[in-house]
Amino acid sequence: MTRNATWSPSLAVMIGLLPLTGVVGQPAVEEARPTVLQSQELPAGVTAQMITEGRQIFTGPGLCSTCHGENGEGTPLAPSLGDATWLNIDGSYDAIVKLVNTGVPQPKEAMIPMVPKGGSTITDEQVRAVAAYVWSLSKGK
Ligand code: HEC
Repeated sequence: MTRNATWSPSLAVMIGLLPLTGVVGQPAVEEARPTVLQSQELPAGVTAQMITEGRQIFTGPGLCSTCHGENGEGTPLAPSLGDATWLNIDGSYDAIVKLVNTGVPQPKEAMIPMVPKGGSTITDEQVRAVAAYVWSLSKGK
């Protein structure tokens, strides 16, 4: 009985404090998390905004979707860019930038070559953005 008398108040305090620390602690943790993850996951020089812009270049001025499909899923003319299989490069961001600039004069499987920049006239900045988008398609695979 004497034990109960001393334990009860401290238990009551603990139960009362737990939800409070939860409410105060959580928002700060959740705000910090995305920023940390993003900078760890993206290759050097790549931003989330470049990936968004690259998506528009892929289906727009870059002409990439003409051969690689609307979402890079591949067509009879050119391979999928969204899987883990790479025919000409290791799939790293730098290798993608380089390949877009040089094209693929001698394709491994396709019947026609890829000309530099897919035959488009996109700028160096647009090449880096579209490469960031292509990189994001196979990320983690
Ligand atoms: C005229 C059709 C055509 C266009 C347009 C085109 N590509 Fe390609 N792409 C190809 C072909 C063909 C290959 C080589 C496939 C092979 O080796 O069999 C290729 C290969 C690639 C690869 C390497 C794939 C691998 O598995 O090695 C990447 C990355 C790529 N293209 C990105 C792009 C991007 C980005 C654009 C737009 C700027 C683009 N391509 C425009 C036809 C095209």
